[in-house]
Amino acid sequence: MRVMVVGKGGREHAIVWALSKSPKISQLLCAPGNVGMRGLAELVPIQEHQFDELAVFATERKIDLVVIGPDDPLAAGIVDHLESAGLRVYGPRKNAAIIEGSKVFTKDLLHKYNIPTAAYGSFDNYEEALAYVRKQGAPIVIKADGLAAGKGVIVAQTLQEAEAALAEIMVSKAFGASGNSVVVEEFLQGQEMSLLAFVDGVTVRPMVPSQDHKPVFDDDKGPNTGGMGTYSPLPHIPQSVVDEAIATIVKPTAEAMVAEGRPFRGVLYAGLMLTAQGPKTIEFNARFGDPETQVILPRLETDLLDIFLATLDGTLGELDIRWSEEAAVCVILASAGYPASSTKGVAIEGLDAIGDRALVFHSGTAEKDGKLVTNGGRVLGVVGRGRDIAEARERAYAAAADIHFEGKHNRTDIARKALV
Ligand code: AMP
Ligand code: GLY
Repeated sequence: MRVMVVGKGGREHAIVWALSKSPKISQLLCAPGNVGMRGLAELVPIQEHQFDELAVFATERKIDLVVIGPDDPLAAGIVDHLESAGLRVYGPRKNAAIIEGSKVFTKDLLHKYNIPTAAYGSFDNYEEALAYVRKQGAPIVIKADGLAAGKGVIVAQTLQEAEAALAEIMVSKAFGASGNSVVVEEFLQGQEMSLLAFVDGVTVRPMVPSQDHKPVFDDDKGPNTGGMGTYSPLPHIPQSVVDEAIATIVKPTAEAMVAEGRPFRGVLYAGLMLTAQGPKTIEFNARFGDPETQVILPRLETDLLDIFLATLDGTLGELDIRWSEEAAVCVILASAGYPASSTKGVAIEGLDAIGDRALVFHSGTAEKDGKLVTNGGRVLGVVGRGRDIAEARERAYAAAADIHFEGKHNRTDIARKALV
């Protein structure tokens, strides 16, 4: 089979790496991909938003399956577009990808179907949003409605911070049209969990749970990022809590989407808060997580291609999906200034010496004059694997310490919660 992945981040590198193990794939391509994928896939110089070019290329090259990685093209309807060109595509159509594309849509859906989530108000009027925030008081959470590269959520500890966030989103339009509406949400306390599932309509096949670390600095200090590191499994979280989240949140949401005439087909990602009152929904994403995928797929023993094909064939419910017991820890190496800004073009050293001590997935890298350089905020994801979290964590940090670039920053406390 000829398979093409669309996207260029660490998540797509992990998807390409997993697919590259499939004996059924004769040609693996990635558009546009990144330099880390060389040797695994043919890189196609077409960007994720160039739907027409992607359709023409995939048709010409007789691609049997296109797999979509990132949120932006999904929300913009890339699946519908490629399908109308006669291609087979893995990912949700536009009317289902809205579960990530609009926070207002999702909050209203959860409310309508009684699915646990934080209490909220949604507003397209700044004055009304401001009045609601003042009435509720802090701590409180302000969210831009639309996509904002993982940065449109502000957890405000004070009223002053909340008001500043509202003005930034709705008045200064820091995230453009994504800030035309906002969701203002009750502050939830607890541990976070990322629970991803392969979904086809009402069929839900959960993946192993993982945990992300969103704030840029240790001890969850500083602004939120796309994610600074992940680990799986979560030994300190009982399976009963995971099962409860599947039964009360993930399955009912898949069913609600079907009931709404928006059947979801692809990876449904529930961002959850494990509160004293049980798991509650923070958000849904319509795709694999980044960097969750970097720790989930190394634990997948089943051929990922079989899962994608079973989904499209309507046989996902019957497939045997197996996961390994081993642990995986991913440490993100970021550029100086991330997430506010990022330096590019800085030489990266030390990768060759890593060997198979760790998996290194590229997020923001490029090649300049034959040398590997930084090319974004999140640069590399270093994944250690081991019998337990402690061993995986040690391996990830040992490898991370051997990779050098000026301004390199990483959290030093990824997966620490799982050790105590
Ligand atoms: P999101 O982009 O919706 O995942 O939000 C980013 C991060 O903000 C989450 O991973 C949480 O750490 C935090 N967050 C979002 N909503 C809430 C909430 N209602 N209460 C507490 N923290 C939240
Ligand atoms: N790691 C968070 C996300 O992929 O949205």
